[in-house]
Amino acid sequence: MGFHCLFIFYVVILLSLSSSYENTILNQTAFFTLLKTSLSGNTFSDWDGTNVCSYTGITCNDNGYVVKINVSGRNLLGRFPENICSYLPHLKTLNIGHNDIHGGFPYSITNCSLLQELITTHTSLVGELPDFSPMKSLRLLDLSSCSYSGKFPVSFINLTNLEVMNLNENGG
Ligand SMILES: *[C@@H]1O[C@H](CO)[C@@H](O)[C@H](O)[C@H]1NC(C)=O
Ligand SMILES: *[C@@H]1O[C@H](CO)[C@@H](O)[C@H](O)[C@H]1NC(C)=O
Ligand SMILES: *[C@@H]1O[C@H](CO)[C@@H](O)[C@H](O)[C@H]1NC(C)=O
Ligand SMILES: *[C@@H]1O[C@H](CO)[C@@H](O)[C@H](O)[C@H]1NC(C)=O
Repeated sequence: MGFHCLFIFYVVILLSLSSSYENTILNQTAFFTLLKTSLSGNTFSDWDGTNVCSYTGITCNDNGYVVKINVSGRNLLGRFPENICSYLPHLKTLNIGHNDIHGGFPYSITNCSLLQELITTHTSLVGELPDFSPMKSLRLLDLSSCSYSGKFPVSFINLTNLEVMNLNENGG
C-alpha cells in the first residue's frame, strides 16, 4: 500500500468512526425525546436543550455517552419506552424506581449487555420477568415492591457478576 492509499484508508476510518459517534449522540437525544413523550410528570422542565448530559439525573462518560439514568422519585407516570440500549448502548445504571411507571417489564432491557445496575423498586410494573441470561454485566437487580408475578427468574444463576438481587414484596 503506497502512502496515498494509506492516507485515504485513514480518512475513511476516521470518517466512519466520527459518523458512528454522531449517530450515537443523535440516538441519545432521540431517546430522551421519546422518554418525555412516553412519560408525564412535572419533572422534565429542567431537561432542556439537546445536551442530554446536562439533564438532572443523567450522567455521561468523558466521551459524551450516557452511562447512568437515575429518575428515581420524580413523579413519572406512563410506560417506559422499548429498546433503550439501541439508543443508549453504553448504559451502566438505570434507576426508574419510586415512579408510577406501569405496563409489563420492558423485556428489551435484556439487550443491555453492559448494564450493571437495574432498579425498578416501587413502580407499578406487572407480569412475568424475562430470561435475564443475556445481561452478563448485572451486579445489582432491585425489582422489589412492584407487581411482578409468575415464575421465579432462575436465569439469575447465569449472572456471574450479580452481587445483589431483591425481589421482595411482589404481589402477583
Ligand atoms: C438516585 O436518586 C435518588 C434521589 O435523588 C437518590 O436517593 C439515590 O441515591 C440515587 N441512586 C443512584 C443509584 O444513583
Ligand atoms: C442508532 O444509530 C445507529 C447507527 O450508528 C443505527 O443503526 C441505529 O438504528 C440507531 N438506533 C436507533 C434506536 O435509532
Ligand atoms: C434485542 O435487540 C435485537 C436487535 O436490535 C432485537 O431484534 C430483539 O428483539 C431485542 N430483544 C428484545 C428482548 O427486545
Ligand atoms: C443460562 O444460559 C444458557 C445459555 O444462554 C441457557 O441455555 C440456559 O437456559 C440459561 N439457564 C437458565 C437457568 O436460565
